[in-house]
This record gives sequence, structure tokens and C-alpha cells, in this order.
Amino acid sequence: MTTWNLQGTVSHLLICNGSSCKKNKGEEVAEAIEDEIEKQGAQSLIHTTVTRCNGRCDDACVVIAYPEGVWYKEITPKSAKALVRKHLQGERLEEQVVYTYDEKLIAATERGAKGKKKK
Ligand code: FES
Repeated sequence: MTTWNLQGTVSHLLICNGSSCKKNKGEEVAEAIEDEIEKQGAQSLIHTTVTRCNGRCDDACVVIAYPEGVWYKEITPKSAKALVRKHLQGERLEEQVVYTYDEKLIAATERGAKGKKKK
């Protein structure tokens, strides 16, 4: 168990390791993200949390970036490294964006699975 001092953190990446995302290399994605953060010397800038299912299994492996509010689909270990580099530059991995947050969670693209409508 650890308690980090998160002062100065600029981005929080939530890396899904629910069962569907694990089947789609979720653990390797988490490792790749950690490796790239270390390679870039960005440990104090990007915080990571491995999560359970985020409810977008058809998009596995899912990674969510806050405070940007960007939901990514089909992240692989390779694209995970690119994602870290993009976020450090204040950019996004546009081709894998499914949702963005702009006061409301909105569909940014038609790239992700449509999913079931909530009641
Ligand atoms: S297991 Fe990752 S979104 Fe469901």
C-alpha cells in the first residue's frame, strides 16, 4: 500500500483491467504505460490507477484520462506508449478517442461500440 503525494499531477490515467480488457492485453497496457511514464521522467506528472470494468467492454482495452475527460478504445501496449507521449504534449491519441468530456459526456466519434442505452 502506498500513499503518494499527488501535488503537481497533471493527468490521471485509469487503465481498465476488467476481464474483457485483461483478455485484450490490459495488464501489458498498464505495464507499457508505466514504462513510458518512467522513460519520459513523468512520474510526478501522470498518475495511474488500474481499475475494474468501466462498462465499455467492446472497446477493450479501455483507458480513461482525467482531467481531460478522454475515453480511449482498443489501447495496445504500443499505442499506450504513444498515449503517454501525447498527453505529455497536451494532445490526444485522436484515432482512438471514443468520448470526450465537455460539461457533459458526449460521443466524440463514431469509432467506439454503440453500446446499450441506459434506462
Ligand atoms: S473490462 Fe474494461 S471496459 Fe469492461
